[in-house]
Amino acid sequence: MTALFAQISDLHLDGTVRATDRARRVVGYLNGLARPVDAVLVTGDIADHGTEAEYEEAARLFATMSVPVLPCPGNHDVRGPYRKALLDEEPVGGPINRRHRVAGVTVLLVDGTVPAQGHGYVDDETIAWLEEQLRDPSPTLIALHHPPVRIHEPSLDKILLHSPDRLEALVAAHPQVIAVLTGHAHTAAASTFAGRPLVIAPAVTYALRMPWEGGDIRNWDQPPGVAFHVIDDSRIITHFRVA
Ligand SMILES: [Fe+2]
Ligand SMILES: [Fe+2]
Repeated sequence: MTALFAQISDLHLDGTVRATDRARRVVGYLNGLARPVDAVLVTGDIADHGTEAEYEEAARLFATMSVPVLPCPGNHDVRGPYRKALLDEEPVGGPINRRHRVAGVTVLLVDGTVPAQGHGYVDDETIAWLEEQLRDPSPTLIALHHPPVRIHEPSLDKILLHSPDRLEALVAAHPQVIAVLTGHAHTAAASTFAGRPLVIAPAVTYALRMPWEGGDIRNWDQPPGVAFHVIDDSRIITHFRVA
């Protein structure tokens, strides 16, 4: 079994030409691939302010893609308008957790956001949902917005996933979890979590400058990024690209 996923993150659509252009560039790049990916995962901060207009733009953009687009929310997203415009659902309810089956891989899209807060937290309802989903022993990817490990950029390290211990224990107890995929950090990065690969996708919007690079924390010069994940049985290999 070989599955190919693209992961994009942190579009921060805000109605500006700059944000729209970067998002369109990524979508155009993905639509032009010689071999279409099996699905595009979008790991949150789709909208910048969480307005209906921002999600309507996202929905129009995603509709131009020829493959399934599977999102999870980030701290800039607002559940009500997100549900309405992206999922065509009533704009009420708690965490937006979703399970998809793509090319033999189970994809768990986890809502680790805390309404109106910058940091993340996987609440009781979501932990219970994950426990239920992980009864299925087939190869599984877990995607959520906030990284559960330090990035080593001080302002970002304050708003990561808080109390990741329960998620860590769940991943550790379930060998079918191939990797954990996140966004939020606006930098392409790799680590481990519960002994599994942890991949942080680059942002579609500005990139993060790390302290050792100097200069403004927001790097608008770097082109929008994409991560490609190839899943070969139980192994992941990630290729990073700019669009
Ligand atoms: Fe972001
Ligand atoms: Fe974020």
